[in-house]
Amino acid sequence: MEKTDLKTLKIKAQKDIDGSKDLKGLNEIFKKYLGKKGELTQILRSLEKLPKEKRVKVGKAANELKNFLKLKFEQKAQELKKIIKKETEKKEWLDITAPGRRPVFGHLHPLTQVKRKVEEIFQAMGFEVVEGPDTETEWYNFDALNIPRDHPARDVWDTFYLKNGLLLRTHTSPVQVRYMEKNNPPLRIIVPGRVFRHEATDASHEINFYHIEGLMVGKNISTANFKAIIEEFFKRFFEKPIKIRMRPGYFPFVEPGFEVDMTCLACEGKGCSACQKTGWMEMMGAGMVHPNVLKAAGLTPHQYSGSGWQGFAFGIGMDRLAMMKYKINDIRLFYSGDLRFLNQF
Ligand code: FA5
Repeated sequence: MEKTDLKTLKIKAQKDIDGSKDLKGLNEIFKKYLGKKGELTQILRSLEKLPKEKRVKVGKAANELKNFLKLKFEQKAQELKKIIKKETEKKEWLDITAPGRRPVFGHLHPLTQVKRKVEEIFQAMGFEVVEGPDTETEWYNFDALNIPRDHPARDVWDTFYLKNGLLLRTHTSPVQVRYMEKNNPPLRIIVPGRVFRHEATDASHEINFYHIEGLMVGKNISTANFKAIIEEFFKRFFEKPIKIRMRPGYFPFVEPGFEVDMTCLACEGKGCSACQKTGWMEMMGAGMVHPNVLKAAGLTPHQYSGSGWQGFAFGIGMDRLAMMKYKINDIRLFYSGDLRFLNQF
């Protein structure tokens, strides 16, 4: 080991240090020279093998080189840290004078908006808002509504039967009976709620949709009351008088029964995909509550006693109300989760 070797080592190490681009690289170079197995460390370790005189000379030079390199490493590290700091400052800066960004607010789904509006209108007309379960017993969904087991009328409602003997309600009409079991007339209720049908979907049919049941029972409630209430409801909901037509319709839980259509507002009565080109949109089933339904709920129908009860019931397709209100020609859009559609409301 000669002093000349140390000189060569010094030049080499200095070149390496000067050329290092980042702290990681610098650390590697440190290890290369001053680490446990570093080149200079090896030299320092081998000193003891040298004769005394040489050991003193080379030892002094080697220790000087060690201190020199340590200093160099320290200086280079500081230099690199400064560069890194500057670069980070360039990339990560905070403009505290920049105006704030508005948070994005969600909003209610159009069907929820419609539900709330309907509730508001009927409440103003003295109706109470009532709810019932989505899964029902056959008794409430059919039997209590004058549709006995094996009666062909059950086929009108394509039903999802559950393995536990219950079913997904096909309409909100079961709540008529549930409510009348616990509340005596005179009564006025609406029942907004989700219903299910196992049928093919198209522009005006979904398998999962919403109904608003209506029920008004008292001493002298008649079809005329029904027509007045519905016309008033449509007027308030659409904010203009709406042309409706009432057709005879068969529902086992009403007698007489009818279906109510309104001018299709998606096409203003001209005919479109939503109204199957008829110009009319079927909005609800309705009628005078069948005596058997009142009996199933434990009430005495007017037919059997002059002091008994009578009234009307209806079931509006809430999705169709929304379609008419917002001129939407396909019901499936409500359930698509497409923000381009939803953000319009
Ligand atoms: C009924 O479900 C009866 N419970 C309504 C009723 C209540 C009659 C009280 C008499 C007394 P209907 O199956 O017609 O009736 O459905 C009522 C309304 O729901 C329809 O007029 C229509 O507006 C809407 N509707 C029916 N099927 C669908 C469907 N697949 N998708 C969307 N809306 C539907």
